[in-house]
Amino acid sequence: MAGQNQRLNVVPTVTMLGVMKARLVGATSGHALLKKVRQNVVVGFLCHNNNKYDDNRAAAAAAAASADRSRPNQFLIFPSSSSPRSAVTAAAVMASIGGNNLITSSNHLRHVDFITNLPSGAGKISHLNAVVLGEASASEQADLVLPSQQFSSQALVPSHQKYLEMYMRSIQDPAGFWSDIASQFYWKQKWPEQVFSENLDIRKGPIKIEWFKGGITNICYNCVDRNIEAGLGHKVALYWEGNGPGFDDTLTYSQLLHRVCQLANYLKDIGVKRGDAVVIYLPMLMELPIAMLACARIGAVHSVVFAGFSAESLAQRIVDCKPKAVITCNAVKRGPKIIHLKEIVDAALIQSAKTGISVDVCLTYENQSAMKRESTNWQEGRDVWWSDVVPKYPYTCEVEWVDAEDPLFLLYTSGSTGKPKGVLHTTGGYMVYAATTFKHAFDYKPSDIYWCTADCGWITGHSYVTYGPLLNGATVVVFEGAPNYPDPGRCWDIVDKYKVTLFYTAPTLVRSLMREGGVSFSGCFLSVYCCFLMIRDGACFYEVILLIAILIFITITQYVTRYSRKSLRVLGSVGEPINPSAWRWFYNVVGDSRCPISDTWWQTETGGFMITPLPGAWPQKPGSATFPFFGVQPVIVDEKGVEIGGECSGYLCLKSSWPGAFRTLYGDHERYETTYFKPFPGYYFSGDGCRRDKDGYHWLTGRVDDVINVKGQGIYAFVTLVEGVPYSEELRKSLIMTVRKQIGAFAAPDKIHWAPGLPKTRSGKIMRRILRKIASRQLDELEDTSTLADPTVVHQLIELADC
Ligand code: WT7
Repeated sequence: MAGQNQRLNVVPTVTMLGVMKARLVGATSGHALLKKVRQNVVVGFLCHNNNKYDDNRAAAAAAAASADRSRPNQFLIFPSSSSPRSAVTAAAVMASIGGNNLITSSNHLRHVDFITNLPSGAGKISHLNAVVLGEASASEQADLVLPSQQFSSQALVPSHQKYLEMYMRSIQDPAGFWSDIASQFYWKQKWPEQVFSENLDIRKGPIKIEWFKGGITNICYNCVDRNIEAGLGHKVALYWEGNGPGFDDTLTYSQLLHRVCQLANYLKDIGVKRGDAVVIYLPMLMELPIAMLACARIGAVHSVVFAGFSAESLAQRIVDCKPKAVITCNAVKRGPKIIHLKEIVDAALIQSAKTGISVDVCLTYENQSAMKRESTNWQEGRDVWWSDVVPKYPYTCEVEWVDAEDPLFLLYTSGSTGKPKGVLHTTGGYMVYAATTFKHAFDYKPSDIYWCTADCGWITGHSYVTYGPLLNGATVVVFEGAPNYPDPGRCWDIVDKYKVTLFYTAPTLVRSLMREGGVSFSGCFLSVYCCFLMIRDGACFYEVILLIAILIFITITQYVTRYSRKSLRVLGSVGEPINPSAWRWFYNVVGDSRCPISDTWWQTETGGFMITPLPGAWPQKPGSATFPFFGVQPVIVDEKGVEIGGECSGYLCLKSSWPGAFRTLYGDHERYETTYFKPFPGYYFSGDGCRRDKDGYHWLTGRVDDVINVKGQGIYAFVTLVEGVPYSEELRKSLIMTVRKQIGAFAAPDKIHWAPGLPKTRSGKIMRRILRKIASRQLDELEDTSTLADPTVVHQLIELADC
């Protein structure tokens, strides 16, 4: 390879990090480097702050080392902070020589400092007992984590260059780019010449987004029938894992089609027609994606309501979309707890009837593992058992061919204030976008087994449990239970059971599993009990000691590492920014430093990923969602709505439409325009803050309206401390001073409210409405807290209000 003999300025270190002495070898040639690699001397590289360290030399090193099989599998790069380019280049070297586990930092000393002082839970890097980073800080944001060469070489988008090529085309020729992709799906009738039309500028008239209008298709056909025709009939479409270990089920694509058709036929029979709404209030049973697909098949508009919402929330949604039928089940077990869903539906239907909206049919699935049908409350005439009617219908059902712009589903986002918003997605553009984002962000391969822990009650479950994966003919795990039941090892148990390769979850789950990565209490109890029995039965001292040792060894094994997790290939995160220490734990411990993490930024409104890593294409920075997906043009604007370029932070907006965008808020186009398009005319406003770093990586900073300004009280801050740090008056003062100094007096909080936990939805979104009420002490107006992941935090916050 060219340049192999060029001299190379790298400094191989001959020590593992624990010793922290680097031997300066100085400039060396590719051959000399290769020799050192052969002798197994090189365990890492330190880069000089040397501008001459160019790509040719990097290529030389790569060539040298890749010729050798005994290469080390872990490298560390500590570029000097003034030379980030050398880090990138060195990183490229590592990637090309197949260094699996590459960690870089621009601050050598910082790592050294931390080595003897590992913050708990942040995990270790396998094979090398070192390097733990704290939370986001300027220096860490230059950290790069590279996919291995094996990974990149097999990836759909194998390099940054390839991404840029595809991205540029998607921006310069969106019609051509998306048409090519759309053509891979089945269309009864192709869309006309004009692929899309849009107006995102409120000053120029009503907001409008249309893709493939005039094209005729059906998303259910594309998810199921098309795959069967392509020969995937016997492939597993859905694996179902019940709440209790040992409860499971499987559906192939052919079986899925049968089930979907039977339900579709039933719905047609009771008079559900194209364009009618159907509310689905089901837990994660296979019947949930089946119900979504059945609606789509007959052109009905489904509105899945998360089966954790209260009767009031459900009633509110029923009143808004006036469904022809509600599909539910009698009960579900979540962890050890039984939830009587049918009773909630009954209450919601009473409530909606009071406002004049009555529903004729409540189709109820008997979820036998939770509750037998005998003990279910029943209203004759309205309530129908699924198993009494649906299985009687034929296995085939005509597809209702719909326009690409016909509505597919409504999904209510609670909105942090007021009435829920009915986010409306249409068929064609959503289909193309959900499928394409899934394929690329997870680097999907036909042999993958995919598991997303989200519930179909959220957009994540729509786009990335049901539609995205099935459109790709993937095998999907549907999990009914709770991720920490019966113990915090459940997720990894499921990963091993189904040989899951793609695992997609939320930072809140990552953090909770990270906290519980410790000792199994049931195991401890068992150990103590066994010892007690042995002593009672007169075992000798050494026998007891041996047993204790064995039991301690077994029980102290961590919840994660006692499972293999070897099948994992790509990890994913969604819902909120993932803090670097959680990112590292996810990467190092769960993924054994092998699996890239796709930190996908998107929203219910966007239908699919907007800013996301393409796992084989470029280095990742822990905590950054990296770069825009094809066709997405994110811009950062200041408070006046002026675009800012380069390294900056501000409000995240989108400049043009993409096929998966929502088209309106159901029944309230004006609210759609006011909420999303009026704040910054000319753009779609995401509501999120974002920082772009010098390398163009995007760092989401959360909702901009997370700042609470309570009338007469100024800025009110809820502050959560790192576990174990006590609340104190000095800390309160010093926090205020820090904000004053680092941001400015205008931003200094007037009130700090200690908050051991925040009221979050299950997807990790902070319920600002509740915080606002607590801040303004309007405790009698807290309304519905049933959508919270943990409603008890509200009481906790109220108690701490005046501390
Ligand atoms: C909001 C959208 C999108 C599915 C789940 C939630 C936040 C989402 C990320 C991420 C930083 C993220 C944003 C966004 N968010 N993903 N990877 N990094 N923030 O859907 O309820 O519509 O919430 O979740 O604040 O606006 P949603």
